[in-house]
Amino acid sequence: MSSILKISDLTFIYQNSKKASLQQINMDIHEGEFIGITGPTGAGKSTLALCMNGVIPHFYQGDFYGSVMVDQKDTVDNDCVALAGSIGSVFQDPEAQIVATVVEDEVAFGLENLNLPRYEMEERITTALEMTGISQLRNYSTARLSGGQKQRVAIAAAIALRPKILVLDEPTSELDPQGTLAIYETLKNLNELYGITVIIIEQKIQYLAEYCSRLVVLDKGKIAIEGPCREVLSRQDTLQGLGVNCPPVTQLAYMLKQKGLYHGEFPINVDEAYLVVSKVLQDKGRFQ
Ligand SMILES: Nc1ncnc2c1ncn2[C@@H]1O[C@H](COP(=O)(O)OP(=O)(O)OP(=O)(O)O)[C@@H](O)[C@H]1O
Ligand SMILES: [Mg+2]
Repeated sequence: MSSILKISDLTFIYQNSKKASLQQINMDIHEGEFIGITGPTGAGKSTLALCMNGVIPHFYQGDFYGSVMVDQKDTVDNDCVALAGSIGSVFQDPEAQIVATVVEDEVAFGLENLNLPRYEMEERITTALEMTGISQLRNYSTARLSGGQKQRVAIAAAIALRPKILVLDEPTSELDPQGTLAIYETLKNLNELYGITVIIIEQKIQYLAEYCSRLVVLDKGKIAIEGPCREVLSRQDTLQGLGVNCPPVTQLAYMLKQKGLYHGEFPINVDEAYLVVSKVLQDKGRFQ
């Protein structure tokens, strides 16, 4: 698989800030990956997302060292408009992202720069609204939307552009479990059907465990742990030390291990946890 986003020795210090918000970050993301980024508050996750989509260095002043190559384009030499076909974004605060007064116009907004034929624009808007479960909000005023609805509109607008990479910064923070699951399923479809590379920043680690192949944990502006999801989640002690909660099912297996009741791999979802618990009960002679 070829590299679609490559970060080399990235350090960023916001203007008027004494410490680096990102320090010596190196990442190589391949086309078609579904990658999760997590870490405690203030770790630098949003700053990293802003470096990926070019908002840094084009809209924030500061000291920028190293390089970020998005789809072969250096973000220092290419502004956000030049990068828009390659990378689409959902920002942590959808309020700051929404500019139009009507939902349909918000989703159409980015498309207008692409000079698409009318019918294709229409098709993309309809599909994006359907995929995010908000077709009924099409003619709503954006000012009247709830936080969760605004997040869905921001996701729809990003999806409609059909970029090669989607970077989403805590896109489901205001959604209930059902809404969160629906968004993850949509992202999974985009990833599997269209090969869109998904980079998602998330605190709800159980969703990352379920959907991502690779996990990056940031702490104090640096990469603290990185690797295949299962490998990262098996480092319970380190994660807890960083203040990152593991999925409850993984924590359960960890406790069983500590008691000497279980010795296998850590489960990362409910189905795997069921097998773990069955095995423990079987070993105890209490389960057929
Ligand atoms: N505009 C800014 N100017 C100066 N410092 C900033 C700015 N934005 C963020 N920071 C600082 O950079 C560091 C990383 O912040 P960032 O928002 O990237 O973290 P985060 O991991 O996204 O946190 P959260 O989980 O709370 O969203 C923090 O110390 C923060 O105070
Ligand atoms: Mg953030």
